[in-house]
Amino acid sequence: MIIDGKQAAQQLRNNLAEKVQALKSASGITPGLTVVLVGDDPASQVYVRNKAKQTQEVGMISNEIRLPECTSQQELLTQLESLNKDSQVHGILVQLPLPAHIDEAAIIAKIIPEKDVDGFHAMNSGRLLNGEAGALIPCTPQGCVLLAKRHLGDDLSGKHAVIIGRSNIVGKPVSILFLQENCTVTIAHSRTVDLPAVCRQADILVAAVGRPEMVKAEWVKPGATVIDVGINRVVAADGKGRLVGDVDFKGVETVAGAITPVPGGVGPMTIACLLKNTLTAARNSCSLKLS
Ligand code: GUN
Repeated sequence: MIIDGKQAAQQLRNNLAEKVQALKSASGITPGLTVVLVGDDPASQVYVRNKAKQTQEVGMISNEIRLPECTSQQELLTQLESLNKDSQVHGILVQLPLPAHIDEAAIIAKIIPEKDVDGFHAMNSGRLLNGEAGALIPCTPQGCVLLAKRHLGDDLSGKHAVIIGRSNIVGKPVSILFLQENCTVTIAHSRTVDLPAVCRQADILVAAVGRPEMVKAEWVKPGATVIDVGINRVVAADGKGRLVGDVDFKGVETVAGAITPVPGGVGPMTIACLLKNTLTAARNSCSLKLS
């Protein structure tokens, strides 16, 4: 079975649009998301355009700040300082990767945790780790759990989740989320011994390594749920570029119980979860807890 991320994301956005209306009626607040893009990386421009369109579709205010590649770290910090203070802005996202002369860690630390809709600030990762309420949780990891639940139902207790990859953006936070769902969690990575054997134990296998089609059919337990976070551009035999995940989709599809496609799997859910975080940030700003 293919898990349809586009459809799941559309359903989530429909649900968010209703909640945005409810917040507007109750408080007069319209959630606002500001995306900051430094430089002109083509892939980032596509992401930013998609984010803006979907933000408006759910009834939120979308702002984009485009800065030239030569922007200094200090200029970006100053820009963030004014966004931190702007009461119309509930969520701030600085598109990564940043140009090499800017220290990403310093930029992430500058955004106040309350507006950190990426969930990358140490305060939010600490809250996630501690299981505290009120954390803004990284978007791709949230999307992975929602897609796994779409196939397996809400109760993931006792399932063995194997995560390949240990990045701060995906691998580490998604491991914590599956742990909170009462899964047994294994984090595998480039130094793991006999990775295929570790993966074969997984009821839920999450691939987040950035290596095109690395996970093969023999690595997957029959019936497992496979969540593919990879987005890799490769050149096909006909010379055209195409997007593939970290999972060999054709081979694994025949063994897995369910699998997310690339594109159309985790990607759309990431943006929908960004909007969810923006709504959470806006609600928190007025301490209104609507259901
Ligand atoms: N670049 C690719 N994915 C992401 C993301 O989730 N957040 C940010 N800020 N930049 C990205």
